[in-house]
Amino acid sequence: MSETFTFVIDDKEIEGCFGQTILEAAEEAGVYIPRLCHLKGLTPFGSCRVCTCMVNGRAMAACTQPAAPGMIVENASERVTEIRKSLVEMLFVEGNHFCMFCERSGDCELQGLAYRFGIAAPRYPYLFPERDLDASHDDIFIDRNRCVLCGRCVRASREKDGKHVFGFVGRGPAKRVQVNAEAALAETKVAVTDEAVAACPVGAILKKRTAYRVPVGERRYDHEPIGSDIEKRRTAAAE
Ligand code: FES
Repeated sequence: MSETFTFVIDDKEIEGCFGQTILEAAEEAGVYIPRLCHLKGLTPFGSCRVCTCMVNGRAMAACTQPAAPGMIVENASERVTEIRKSLVEMLFVEGNHFCMFCERSGDCELQGLAYRFGIAAPRYPYLFPERDLDASHDDIFIDRNRCVLCGRCVRASREKDGKHVFGFVGRGPAKRVQVNAEAALAETKVAVTDEAVAACPVGAILKKRTAYRVPVGERRYDHEPIGSDIEKRRTAAAE
């Protein structure tokens, strides 16, 4: 077993192991650090910054920053929450997220974060970008209107499925997820059972013929806020 040490998150002493990130050590201790591009089992990417914490007074991404002995981490403070709220609001206005018409509503991590942060409407102007859909595949479709460029499908396809189906193309506002075929998804090796399909945190990659099997109102984040599963571990350990 690796050597352990302690550090502090929001005045609580947390145990960490060398080689763990702040987010991993926090999660093991039952402290939820909000995240979007991070997915357990995939190489940390550090792109969305939703996991931003103040670490010894400096803003850092908890999913890529290694935990270290004696660190002082602010996770639930007002200023950290404000940074994360702004980031989530920016993600909403950068894409076309019409939650009430989205099959992922109630299971969507972006929406879950908005609920958790109490965001009713973004404070920034909507950009209403023009983005395309790809429904060419028999079992899967991509709706780029809802893509948040987290890269989870890109990493999962490469690291878990060994297929390299998805990748980024373009820069700045033109950046988007592309598939490794000349024309469309149907010509790739992607399968409905791929980890890349399950890795999407929003409604950008969806399985066909599965819509509304679980009614709206009975979905994951309809029952409890995002991150509750992690926080319950701490409560259970304290009892
Ligand atoms: S979860 Fe850490 S940068 Fe996205």
